[in-house]
Amino acid sequence: MIIKSAEFVKSAVKPSQYPTDNLPEIAFAGRSNVGKSSLINTLVNRKNLVKTSSTPGRTQLINFFNVNNLFSFVDLPGYGYARVPEAVRKEWGPMIEKYLSTRSTIRGVVLILDIRRKPTEVEVDFIQWLKQYAISPILVLTKIDKLSKTNQIKQHDLAAKGLGINPLDIILFSAKTRKGRDAVWDAIKKVMPS
Ligand code: GTP
Ligand code: MG
Repeated sequence: MIIKSAEFVKSAVKPSQYPTDNLPEIAFAGRSNVGKSSLINTLVNRKNLVKTSSTPGRTQLINFFNVNNLFSFVDLPGYGYARVPEAVRKEWGPMIEKYLSTRSTIRGVVLILDIRRKPTEVEVDFIQWLKQYAISPILVLTKIDKLSKTNQIKQHDLAAKGLGINPLDIILFSAKTRKGRDAVWDAIKKVMPS
């Protein structure tokens, strides 16, 4: 994919604030601090289009980005970070759920997991839940640069088993080395209208 433009469009917490441009959308979901924003930056070849942070829970709104005036990338807030204020945390589930269940322009959801962590019930449930909406997620294990090759293979296997997914359908990725970038793009292109 040749990136001609990548721009922030707007932030939203509810449907009335979503963009009305009708572009096909790819959403990025995953646990807090897993590397969602970094993945988007890597895909569009930008260091800081999306703010990243070593403080988990930094992305608290649904952020829309326009890519090549062809489609939107949607950076969802991360789930599962306890240190976010309770009041904020309570809004997240419904906010994300509302987006995923009502937004008719969604073409794909990229679900990102840290390769070092075993998948939890949250990810398993999330995949099941997406099925209701006929969405099969693009699965990405990120931060692979943090593990030796041997441990990558081990964790890849564990993740596939834990999620009940064919290992070949899970992409290994690093925002640091950019490994896996093309594979993520290929998966995105597959779910895009041609
Ligand atoms: P929230 O918005 O808080 O949910 O986080 P996020 O999922 O958007 O994560 P973000 O992209 O902000 O990254 C979190 C931290 O992990 C940052 O310090 C990143 O630099 C780091 N990080 C992300 N991806 C990678 C990766 O592939 N390799 C390494 N080594 N670090 C990464
Ligand atoms: Mg983020």
